[in-house]
Order: sequence, then structure tokens, then C-alpha cells
Amino acid sequence: MKTKTILITGANGQIGTVLTEALRERFGTENVIATDIRKPDTSDGPFELLDVLDKDRFDEVIRKYEVGEVYHLAAILSAKGEQNPKWAWEINMTGLLDVLDLARKYEFKLFFPSSIAVFGGNTPRVDTPQDAVLQPETVYGISKSAGENWCQYYHNRYGVDVRSVRYPGIIGYQSLPGGGTTDYAVDIYHYAVKEEAYTCFLKENARLPMMYMEDAIRATIEIMQAPAEKVKLRGGYNIAGTSFTPEEVAATIKTHYPDFSIQYEPDFRQDIASSWPESISDEAAREDWGWKPKFGLKEMTEDMLHQLKNYYRLKVS
Ligand code: SER
Repeated sequence: MKTKTILITGANGQIGTVLTEALRERFGTENVIATDIRKPDTSDGPFELLDVLDKDRFDEVIRKYEVGEVYHLAAILSAKGEQNPKWAWEINMTGLLDVLDLARKYEFKLFFPSSIAVFGGNTPRVDTPQDAVLQPETVYGISKSAGENWCQYYHNRYGVDVRSVRYPGIIGYQSLPGGGTTDYAVDIYHYAVKEEAYTCFLKENARLPMMYMEDAIRATIEIMQAPAEKVKLRGGYNIAGTSFTPEEVAATIKTHYPDFSIQYEPDFRQDIASSWPESISDEAAREDWGWKPKFGLKEMTEDMLHQLKNYYRLKVS
């Protein structure tokens, strides 16, 4: 049987970069097509330029490779979306509707990344349940919440095999995030390893759900590999990793870098953070398809610092 071809949109992004590599390792480089609106600096496998708003081109690329599975990661994140709400809506929503139509037409399996940003307003902020009321306060959150409903709708009405998780803030050494509210939790490690002081754009006590990249990639691949009948929700599953404040991550870094210093200058991103949960209940994901995180703050910090130290050492030598 021919191995199915996998396509990733937004493959140059924070998650896309790492997911592309993980899928290539597992399914073979030639079977994983990376796409983005810009060429990557280095490419170790098949790549196609693709603007997700160009539906004809999207259709052409899907046909060219006889794609059997799509990870639709192209999106504008929370903080950047607030700078230009209608542009963010257009990319996040039209992009998704295009790929849902294509999934229906070509019958491929689809992954849609949702986010903790779907919550807000009157959502309980601690151990936020799967079916909590969704009152998002950012255009990003609105697009993800509507997106979840569209995914469920395409599944119910047209039988599209779409699967989705609500990512918390994702932290990894392999790539940099861009335009999110949780980006500080990646930046802070880079500053620590470079032995520079860090100015945080959130308050010291802004507790948010977070997840190490390795867990996030595993969750993504696991939900896509799960038998269809186990994936009972076709909107977004809550998935929890860990949960911490800037003050707590700084304290953990200080156990490795005692001189590390941090100051706080909260900006508009603090308002976004204040509308999001502090922690997430992921019971449904655990029960339905066996989700279980591996990394807490301590293990994540150890690995981040170790990996980044090697990265900066190689960079200067
Ligand atoms: N990391 C994202 C953001 O901060 C949340 O999904 O926008």
C-alpha cells in the first residue's frame, strides 16, 4: 500500500517547523510536504509555496501530491491578531473554510489547531472544563471558537474526519513563536542562556496553561492516529501540560542561573492573558484517546536550558 502523503500549512511556524520534522522522521521525508507563504531558510524535503487564501493553488497542491492528511497550522496568533482584527479573521477563517471544503472534496483527514484562547469572559479560570462557555475576547479566540464549530459541522454534515486540540502556550527550543501572548515563556529561556536580563510583557503572577513542544507534537500525532470512533469531539479537545506564572519560571531558571534577573513591564498582552484560563482540565482527551503529558515545569526547564546552551555554543564556534 502506498504511504499516504501528508501536507502541512504554516510549516515554517513555531509548531510547523517541529511537526514537519517529527512527521518526516516517522513517515519518511518524501511523504511530508511542507508549505508556507515564504520559503524556509533551509529545507530538507519537499516544499511548496502556498498562501492558504489561494484556494485554487491549494487545490492544485493537494491534487499534485494526492494528499491523504493535512495539518492546517497557518494562522495569525492572539497578540498579532489584535493589531489587525479583520485581516486575522480572514486568514484564520477563510483559510480553514477552504481546507474544510478541500477535505470534503478529496476526503483527506484534517488537523485543526485550536487554542486556550477560545475561553474568556465568564469561563471558570481554574481547571477549565472541556464544555465551559466560550466567550473569547480576542479575534484569534473568536476565529478558533468559530473554527471548532465549523469542524464539528463539517464532520456531522459531510463526514469530514477532522480532529483538533486546544493548544496551551507551547514552549520549545527548536523554533521561535511569533505574535502570541505566551511567547514570553520561550523568550525567557533564550535570555537566561545568553546571560541577559529579561523584561517580561506579562505580570509576575500571570498564570497560564503551557506545554512543552515534545508533548504538543505527541498530542497532535496521537489524536491523528487514534481510531476514529475514539475521537468523539470534532471541535477542540482541552489538553493540559503544565501551568505556571512568569515568576515561577524565573525561579526555576534561577536554580540553574542564579544571577538571572527579570523585570516586569506588562503591556496589552496582559489583558489577553487575564481573559484566559490559568489551568485546564483535560479529562475528555485522557478518557477518549488516552492523552497524558510528560513534562512539568522542572523537566521542561532542564531540557530547554540544556538544548539552548548547545545551540548558542555551536552558533559562536
Ligand atoms: N500561544 C497562543 C498565543 O499566545 C495561544 O494559543 O496566541
